[in-house]
Order: sequence, then C-alpha cells, then structure tokens
Amino acid sequence: MEETGKKVIFSGIQPSGNLTIGNYLGALKNWVKLQDEYDCYYCVVDLHAITARQEPKDLRRRTLEILAIYLAAGLDPEKNTMFIQSHVSAHTEAAWLLNCNTYVGELSRMTQYKTKSSKFGNDTSISAGLLNYPVLMASDILLYQTDLVPVGLDQKQHLELTRNIAERFNNAYSPTFKIPEPYIPKEGSKIMDLQEPLKKMSKSSENPNSFILLMDPPEVIKKKISRAVTDSIGIVKYSDEQPGVKNLMNILNTLTGESFDCIEKKYAGKGYAEFKEDVATAIINEFEPIQNKVEMILADKTNLEKIYKAGAEKANYIANKTLRKMQKKIGFIPVSK
Ligand code: AMP
Ligand code: TRP
Repeated sequence: MEETGKKVIFSGIQPSGNLTIGNYLGALKNWVKLQDEYDCYYCVVDLHAITARQEPKDLRRRTLEILAIYLAAGLDPEKNTMFIQSHVSAHTEAAWLLNCNTYVGELSRMTQYKTKSSKFGNDTSISAGLLNYPVLMASDILLYQTDLVPVGLDQKQHLELTRNIAERFNNAYSPTFKIPEPYIPKEGSKIMDLQEPLKKMSKSSENPNSFILLMDPPEVIKKKISRAVTDSIGIVKYSDEQPGVKNLMNILNTLTGESFDCIEKKYAGKGYAEFKEDVATAIINEFEPIQNKVEMILADKTNLEKIYKAGAEKANYIANKTLRKMQKKIGFIPVSK
C-alpha cells in the first residue's frame, strides 16, 4: 500500500438519524475542502450508532445514504478512503485494548454522556456502550495515526480524551500512536436549534422545526426558516442578545462567505422577513444539487458497494498494522504463520 507522505485526517458521522445542516456545516463541508491536501479517511460510524437502539432496516438504509451524501457533497473516492466502520474489525478490537487504559471517572465526566444518561432519570438501563462510546472514537482515530480530526465543537472534549488515552498508552508501552489535533472551523462549528437557539441543533430533537435536514425539500426549508425563533428587537445584528438571528447569520455567512458586517448593512431597516428568505435561498442553493446527486448515487448500489469495499480494504490494512503493534507491546503472543 503506498505511503503518500501527506498528513492524515480521520472523521466520521453516525447513521443514527438524518443529516442536519449542523453536520453539513460543522463537518462534511470542511472535509471536502481538505481532500486534496491530506490523506483522508471518512467513515460511516455504524458501531457508534447502536449506542441507541436502531431499527435494523433503517440502520442499513441510513448507512448507505450517508455514504451517498459523502459522495454527493463532493468527496472523491479516488482521493479519500471512504468506508463503513463495522467492516474494519480492528476498531472494536483496539477499543477493548484502549478501554483497559481508560478510567470510568473520565468517561462519566464527558458532557455528551452526562446529557444522554440524564434522560434516563432513575432508570439504570443505560447501555455500557453509551459510556464507552468515546473509547471507540479514540480507537477510530488512533488506528490511522491521525494528525487532524475535523469535527464540530461538540466533539472537542472527546478529542481531548483521545489525546489523553494515546499519551497514557505511549507512556506505558513506548510511543505507539500519533497524538491527534482537533480541526474545528471558526464558522459553522456549532449550528443552533432553530426553535431554542441556545441549544445545539441535533438530529435527535423531537420537533422537526428545530432542524434543517440535508434532504429537506425546498418548501420545507423555506417553512422551517420562516418559523425560526428570532426576537422582538427587529434588527439584523450579530449579537449574543439575539441568538436566533446570530445563528441564521452564521448559517448565511458559512454558506455565502458574506461577512457579518455586510449582512448587517444589507438588511438595515428591513426587519426579518427578507433576511430569512435569503437564508432559505442560500440553503436551498447549496442543498439542491447535493440532493439530486444523492438519489442518483443511491440508485447504483453496485458502484456504492465497489467504493465501500475498496475503502474497507485500504482501511483494514492500515488499521491492522497499528493493532498488531498495540498487541505486541501489551504482551500478546503473535499468531504463528
Ligand atoms: P454526529 O451526527 O453526532 O455523528 O455528528 C457528526 C459531525 O457533525 C460531528 O463532527 C459533529 O461535531 C458535527 N455536528 C453535529 N451537530 C452539529 C451542530 N449543530 N453544529 C455543528 N456541527 C455539528
Ligand atoms: N462521535 C462523533 C459524533 O458523534 C462521530 C465519530 C465517531 C467521530 N468516530 C469518530 C468523529 C472519529 C471524528 C473521528 O459526532
């Protein structure tokens, strides 16, 4: 397998729901920009998705849909390694080895774990997978000797934990892993809920008006943006006092590149209606071509299969190299040939 000498990028999205504009602007759009400069591994993290119960047929459909969205958004299968996490068993094997070098205390302090587990109240049937989830993420990243991990702001804490686990392992067993850096974009790294703009937009929200999906038809996008919560101030201004407007300005800026200053001037004295219409149009202009391509890509299952098979082959080779190193250092007896 050729060594490119390029720095390595790893990232992934869970097929646990439909992709939102948050996933797109916080992660996917940046991946496309990085594909020429780096050796990129983009994964559909199906093992992560099962920390919450998934309907098998929905999981199957969404896994392929996410891969199709990666392609439709502009990721080139010739340049990037695109694969499905469960096709590379080294991820789960390495996760066990890393679990034995991770503390329950640090896992139970993760914000995402605290938020998700608090929803259970007194019910103790929280899956151990939910607690261990960041260790699997660390294993994804470390197996590829990753330099950079492009993610949204919500994943920063998991990245820090990954670095701590890697350093602990390196110190205990001699240098084994590269220590990865997060790559969090200045804009778009935290798209907020359209109905409660102080909360992160999430695909698992119960109110569909609170998120825009990458696959939402234009009329739905228009309706959701027109219903987005703003305020009674009535001025388009980038301010913490106006979190709803700020969020829409962030979306517009990330999509069109227009500065906040420029946006403020353009809508001065005009109220919110025209501003919202333009935000919706910018989203539709970005999403429509992707949506059309997704349908085409999904219609050709043979081609999709070719792509994820080739991706798994390359990923298996690299991941197993690191896994063997880990096993040897820990003191496992190598399988004789
Ligand atoms: P997930 O859907 O949890 O698999 O997240 C996939 C990627 O999207 C990760 O890099 C997240 O950080 C990013 N992401 C998720 N929600 C948002 C959001 N509201 N704003 C920005 N990035 C997000
Ligand atoms: N945990 C990430 C999320 O919920 C998804 C993910 C899994 C990931 N493994 C990863 C992201 C490795 C970056 C690198 O968004």
